[in-house]
Amino acid sequence: KTIDNDIFGVAQTFGFDTAVHEAARLLTAIKLDATTSGTWFLVEIMGRYTGHLALEAGLAAGVTRVLIPEEGAINVEDLVELVAARQRINANWGVVLLAESTHFGQGYITRFGRLGGVAEKLAERLDEAVRAREMEASIRFSNLGYFLRSAEPTGFDKSYAAQLGTSAARFLLDPVYSGKMVTIEHDQAVGVPIHAVAGKLKPVDLTGVRYQALKAIERYEAARGELLPEGEVVAGVQKALAWLAQHCNAEMVAQTAMRLGISPPGLLRALEEMSEVATGEAERRGHTAS
Ligand code: F6P
Repeated sequence: KTIDNDIFGVAQTFGFDTAVHEAARLLTAIKLDATTSGTWFLVEIMGRYTGHLALEAGLAAGVTRVLIPEEGAINVEDLVELVAARQRINANWGVVLLAESTHFGQGYITRFGRLGGVAEKLAERLDEAVRAREMEASIRFSNLGYFLRSAEPTGFDKSYAAQLGTSAARFLLDPVYSGKMVTIEHDQAVGVPIHAVAGKLKPVDLTGVRYQALKAIERYEAARGELLPEGEVVAGVQKALAWLAQHCNAEMVAQTAMRLGISPPGLLRALEEMSEVATGEAERRGHTAS
């Protein structure tokens, strides 16, 4: 049993599903606070020396970014870029979930001899980096900590623990299983030699589907920062068309085409193409193609 799910040779430890469920509930609440208060929350989560809990809870809650130790040292400038990208879509808020063993390349952050405190350290460094870019962002840190370790078990964990417990009892009656840890694979109880598991770590597989899914969603979220808000597009195009209609002549087209490195007819064709696309889009939305 561990909420870290870091046991080598075991697909999933019991306690992990419950911790993910509880973390997702709390992270959903802090996401709402972030949107209403316009805050960047940096939230620390347990997991000892791996990022399984952070990765799964981050996927479940749909946080803005997840940081895990398997990715290497935290890149603060990368987070500043994320803040900037979201400000471009008027989203001056976010939730960054950090595994407690993420670090800045100079060793784990610890308190009282135990892992802890990385979210506070990152909040200080991110605030400094954002100010250095003359940007404004309200940055806070929090820690889900021990609330995840003894929450009311989920149905999955209750059933899973019953399967493991009854299988362990059966194993105890059969000398063949002496020195074996019980686990379950494809609905069968399996004995894994303790020496094959003890002292080993099961890091997050960066080629695995969980990690790849998370990165795909993060890329989508970040890319939204590059999309112009609808209103800005319409205003910009209307202004450009009004100007063109008023000032455009053959000389202007020739000069602009030369600056763009295309032929004057090519430039006109591009404008026609854009207006056809816009007209088609307007018709699809039921507007008059004025
Ligand atoms: O292994 C479970 C765990 O909760 C880890 O996630 C965490 O790093 C550690 O225990 C904390 O242990 P302690 O109760 O000694 O602070």
